[in-house]
Amino acid sequence: DDFFASVATKSDSGALRGDYTHADKNYVVAQNWAGYTPEQHALWRRLYERQAKLIPGRACDVFLDSIKTLDVSQGIPQFDRTTEALYKATGWQLVAVPGLVPDHTFFEHLANRRFPVTVWLREEHEFDYIVEPDVFHDFFGHVPLLFNPIFAEHLQEYGKGGLKALKLDGLAFLARLYWYTIEFGLIQSPEGLRIYGAGILSSGGEVEYCLRNPEPNRIPFQLDRVMRTLYKIDSYQETYFVIRDFQQLFDDTAPDFTALYEQLKAQDALPANTLLPGEKNFLVA
Ligand code: PHE
Ligand code: FE
Repeated sequence: DDFFASVATKSDSGALRGDYTHADKNYVVAQNWAGYTPEQHALWRRLYERQAKLIPGRACDVFLDSIKTLDVSQGIPQFDRTTEALYKATGWQLVAVPGLVPDHTFFEHLANRRFPVTVWLREEHEFDYIVEPDVFHDFFGHVPLLFNPIFAEHLQEYGKGGLKALKLDGLAFLARLYWYTIEFGLIQSPEGLRIYGAGILSSGGEVEYCLRNPEPNRIPFQLDRVMRTLYKIDSYQETYFVIRDFQQLFDDTAPDFTALYEQLKAQDALPANTLLPGEKNFLVA
């Protein structure tokens, strides 16, 4: 299986992987695409092929359409080329970073429609399992959704909301929102549940697990419920939250969170496997 520490959990992982010596004050580096080896491009191709086989009928349509258009099956992509297409579509740009970046920096990038993508690729022995996000997770998992205008708008608002949460001591709650949506979110479609979360879409095992395994909960997205719920960083998720569409994600997160944070601070968090009385649990085949 495939897990990683997100920006929300990096404090647990100790020293960061990656070369930060050439980073500017926003933690941006040059991608140095010419520096990738043929072996690294080959490893990317194998990661890509594995996921490409898994996602039809499982990833949401936006993801499937975008990943096809992006045309990055043959090797580690050049971020600048993707930015050209992405900027035209939704005004977002990719920036290369050495690895995880400080919360404030991460939010600043998102608030300005810049998505930070890690430059390094995992090693062969990490094919199935990685502790920190690498270029495959960041690019393959996250970038396709940025072509959807509503999602793109939402992620920028999330970035602004992150800067605000830092001042309101609300980061733990906002991180849970990110985790259960941007990283591990499911979405309804006329044909059944589909995946839009990047942490699932870049994982060899969780793509199938999250949709078919009877074990985890699959609960309709509800903002305060999500923000109260703890999450697993070292195993598949015990609960997935399901949105109706991206408009719901945008609309439900649009109100001012100031009062909500205060309310949440007064409540206990819920364990990751919680199913509250009366809560709908989507049935899986
Ligand atoms: N509405 C949130 C606030 O007022 C900001 C936010 C928007 C957070 C979108 C997440 C996603 O703090
Ligand atoms: Fe991620």
